[in-house]
Amino acid sequence: MWDMNLEDIKKVSVIGGGIMGFGIAINFARNGYPTLIHDLNDETVARSKHWVQSAMALFVEEGLLNQAEADDTMSRISWTTDLSEAAQSDFITEAIVERLQDKQALFKTLDKLCPPQTIIVSNTSGLVMSKIGAGVQRQDKVGVTHYFAPPHIVPGVEVAKGPGTSDQTYQIIYDLMKKAKKVPIKVLKEKPGYLINRIQNAMGAEVNRLWIEGVATAEEIELGMKTTFGFRMPHEGTFGHYDLAGVWRWPDDVMTPWRFRPDAEPVDEGTKKYRARMEEKKPWFFKPEQFDEAMEKRDREYVRRLKVLYPDL
Ligand SMILES: NC(=O)c1ccc[n+]([C@@H]2O[C@H](COP(=O)([O-])OP(=O)(O)OC[C@H]3O[C@@H](n4cnc5c(N)ncnc54)[C@H](O)[C@@H]3O)[C@@H](O)[C@H]2O)c1
Repeated sequence: MWDMNLEDIKKVSVIGGGIMGFGIAINFARNGYPTLIHDLNDETVARSKHWVQSAMALFVEEGLLNQAEADDTMSRISWTTDLSEAAQSDFITEAIVERLQDKQALFKTLDKLCPPQTIIVSNTSGLVMSKIGAGVQRQDKVGVTHYFAPPHIVPGVEVAKGPGTSDQTYQIIYDLMKKAKKVPIKVLKEKPGYLINRIQNAMGAEVNRLWIEGVATAEEIELGMKTTFGFRMPHEGTFGHYDLAGVWRWPDDVMTPWRFRPDAEPVDEGTKKYRARMEEKKPWFFKPEQFDEAMEKRDREYVRRLKVLYPDL
């Protein structure tokens, strides 16, 4: 029986110190973990170091860290071009190029080099662990932590399993994200693109279509996104927005199919499930009696944000 706990993770490594890897390393180091970044050569290592130093300078300038905390963080990060050195860690995050065969090869090599208890996760944008980890022995100790750029600043991280990931491993990964002061988002099923990139890509596809059709210029589409739902999104996602917009109590005939209710045939199980949920006529998150309070809270936050982002309005 493997009985590793969160407390047994004392040392972490990040493989690939690029745009994502250097920021992922900062999170761990800021929160007390000696962190080793592995990259391919002296040049990529130097670039990674430069990015960490710049991020620390920015954090100090903006008062997120004081100089002593930034120095402490820096002192916990080191770099290597020797993969076998980086493999001697309790938790490894892979953040190399998004090419399946490269990730597969790396996972197989790490599987051989790492101590048996080491957990290895991928920061893949959308590949699934059943493919990345194919051929790896430690199927129970692999998983996915998908950060969002810049990962040392953006709070959310999707946490997903591979087909063999044990509940114990998943819990350790989840708890580690919390300990590294991130906001873990549970993904329940293996799905290419996971949650957020799928949502983002759906939006991207529509943006491209609107631009191609000449419905608006790129500048106007961008302006629209930033000043409308982009403005609201720190407070509410789509479900929360539908709740407070009162969509759940709209009459049936104003529920246009292209909007909220997939009415397209054939009526598959998913569509039926969604329709049934809509027919319950209830909001996702707020009880009707909490509405006034929720709206006031939302609007107060929006007014504060308006004053910061659009002081002239
Ligand atoms: N850039 C983003 O916004 C973003 C967001 C979320 C997830 N991701 C994912 O994170 C991963 C890394 O992306 P990135 O944007 O940081 O890329 P990047 O090119 O900036 O960094 C990758 C780093 O890995 C190094 N590398 C490549 N192959 C290696 C190997 N075999 N061993 C060791 N180091 C190796 C490269 O030298 C480079 O420094 C990808 O899987 C990507 O899809 C990227």
